[in-house]
This record gives sequence, C-alpha cells and structure tokens, in this order.
Amino acid sequence: MNPRIVLLMAVMVVVYQYPYTAANTNQELKTYIVHMDKEVMPPEYSDHQNWYATSMESVSESPDMLYTYENVIHGFSTRLTVEQAKLLKEKHGTETMFSGLNSSSDVVIGVVDTGVWPASKSLDDTGFGPVPSWWKGECKNGTSFGVSNCNKKLIGATYFSRAYEATYGPIDETIESRSAMDDDGHGTHTATTAAGSTVTGASLFGFAKGTARGMAPNARLAVYKACWLGGCFGSDILAAIEKVIADRVHVLSLSIGDSLANYTNDVVAYGAFKAVSRGIFIACSAGNSGPDPISLSNVVPWIATVGAGRIDRDFPAYVVLGNRKKFRGVSLYS
Ligand SMILES: *[C@@H]1O[C@H](CO)[C@@H](O)[C@H](O)[C@H]1NC(C)=O
Ligand SMILES: *[C@@H]1O[C@H](CO)[C@@H](O)[C@H](O)[C@H]1NC(C)=O
Ligand SMILES: *[C@@H]1O[C@H](CO)[C@@H](O)[C@H](O)[C@H]1NC(C)=O
Repeated sequence: MNPRIVLLMAVMVVVYQYPYTAANTNQELKTYIVHMDKEVMPPEYSDHQNWYATSMESVSESPDMLYTYENVIHGFSTRLTVEQAKLLKEKHGTETMFSGLNSSSDVVIGVVDTGVWPASKSLDDTGFGPVPSWWKGECKNGTSFGVSNCNKKLIGATYFSRAYEATYGPIDETIESRSAMDDDGHGTHTATTAAGSTVTGASLFGFAKGTARGMAPNARLAVYKACWLGGCFGSDILAAIEKVIADRVHVLSLSIGDSLANYTNDVVAYGAFKAVSRGIFIACSAGNSGPDPISLSNVVPWIATVGAGRIDRDFPAYVVLGNRKKFRGVSLYS
C-alpha cells in the first residue's frame, strides 16, 4: 500500500495589524509540510520517524528535517526543491484531511503570535494561586527572556524559529530576540486582550484613560512565539500548535492569517482542526480588511472567527489651516 501524503507549501503567513512582508528569497529550497497517513505506514518500518526519514531520503540527497509532528498532524516539515516536492507527492499519491472531527477552574489560554513582553503590567500575577500541577508547559530561556520572566499568570513561553532561520539564516540577535520576547508588540497585544490582568490608570498617551483588562483576566497565559520580524512560516506555526496540543491548553488564540485560501493550503485550518478535535477552543482573527466581499480570513467552520465591527470611543484630532478653517480627523496623537 502506498503512503498517502499531502504537501502543504509552507507559505508565509501574515500577522494582522502590522505589515509583515518578508522579502522574496530566490533560494531553490522551499519549506514544505508533509502530511503522512500514519495508518498506512508499511510494516517494515519500526517507527514513524524512520518512515518519514526514508520517504524524505527517497527524493532528497541532503534531507533536513525541521520538525516532526505527532499531534497536530502526522508528518514532518523539511526543505525541498519544487521538483523534489513534486516527486514526493507523485510517489505517494495524496489524501484529504479533516475527517473525524470529535464531537466531543483553571483556564489556560495559549497564544501563537510574536511572543510576549513580560514587563507588561497586564501580566501581573498578584492574587493568582500556584501554577496548576497538571501543567507541563515550558518557560524557555533565550535572548532577553529568562525563566524568571514567567510567573503564576504567564505560565508558558516558548518559541519556534527553525523554518524562519532555514530561510533567512540565523536570527540577528542585535535586531530581534531568539526567545519568546516580543520585539514587535502584536503578540503582547493579542495575549493581553485575551487574558490580561486588571490594570488601573491605563491610557494611550493620555487617550482612553481607564482600567485595562483582558476578556478573561483570571486565566493563565501560555505564549508560543512563531512570528518574527520577517514574518511567520507555516512550519513554525504548526510546530507551535503541536506544542499547544501537547500542553493541553483550553483555549487557543490565533491572530494570524493569510488571505482566504483553500483549506488544504491553510496551515492554521489544519492545526486548528486537530486542536479542536482534542477539545481546545480556537478563536482566530477575521483579518484587518473590509468591509468588502471575501475580505476576511480564518473562516473554517471549526474555529470561532472574531472581528470588531466598531469601537466604543474615538480618537479625534484637528487640523487647523492658515485661514483658521478647522477639520476634524482621527489620530492616535493629539
Ligand atoms: C474523540 O474523543 C474520544 C473520547 O475522548 C477519543 O477516544 C477519540 O480518540 C477521539 N477521536 C479523535 C479523532 O480525536
Ligand atoms: C539564557 O539565554 C541567554 C541568551 O541565549 C544566555 O546568555 C544565558 O546564559 C541563558 N541563561 C541560562 C540560565 O541558561
Ligand atoms: C482552490 O482550489 C480549487 C480547485 O483546486 C481552485 O480552482 C481554486 O482556484 C483554489 N482557490 C484558491 C483561493 O486557492
């Protein structure tokens, strides 16, 4: 019997809110996610790793496994040329995913994004009890981020950069942190919107003064950084979701997305499917565009797609011309 395989081109996935546009590298090798159907592993293989490696060696002379996946999908990601990818697919045929969705307190919210800025007051753990004993998630040390940056609120912080670094080379640590540290702000914003502790006396340069808090201020947070200054790669996102599933978080927030894609090309949809079938609730961003037809993303039916239609305040600013005519506009700076 032939193993059945789906190849997912691990395309750049854009983080919302900030214009991540990674430069096109004209390298021959591209990153692919190879999905293997575990059920049809030929009996001569003793384990899956072995089977994956052999499949890869059958098309590539210098196979380089970026990740292997056990939870989110069965398979691996690797660097291949377009030709090798085609060959791999031809050799093994294809299969469709998404069969068998399972109809099946201390809440842990996982966030896959650009990491987290641990100094944020929204991560204050005052009043939190001990970290739940079942929690096995990791707080990983790295550039500008130490194990001591985790606390009873932020109970997990790790990062996934293999595909990013395979494409662009080693991370330049003078520009960005090879750790869960958020060098951008987007991840801290999404994480604390979901689960930020209550912070009194907050404002944005004097605007919107008041109390800031996330939707679930008592929930714990686990952060999985898969997005970098140059963008996010499907293989890294999938590896992050793999860890999310293994860590058994309750809710996963994903403000990452591509333009509307077929499910089979949509890494977030793949990962979310497996996470949902393990009982994880998933909320995804609807995108930053619209309101036009087909301007949203993350629309697969097993996730909750979230968008804001309007906000409850405005940010007025005025332009006064030489003739004293005054025009009202909108700005984040008065
Ligand atoms: C669905 O849930 C049941 C009970 O928890 C479990 O035995 C089964 O393996 C799950 N199926 C899938 C596809 O995850
Ligand atoms: C944490 O990571 C930083 C940066 O890679 C390193 O300099 C430091 O020695 C590490 N600390 C520990 C305790 O491993
Ligand atoms: C989705 O797949 C169909 C059939 O393969 C193809 O015709 C269509 O162009 C694809 N759409 C997108 C958005 O990729």
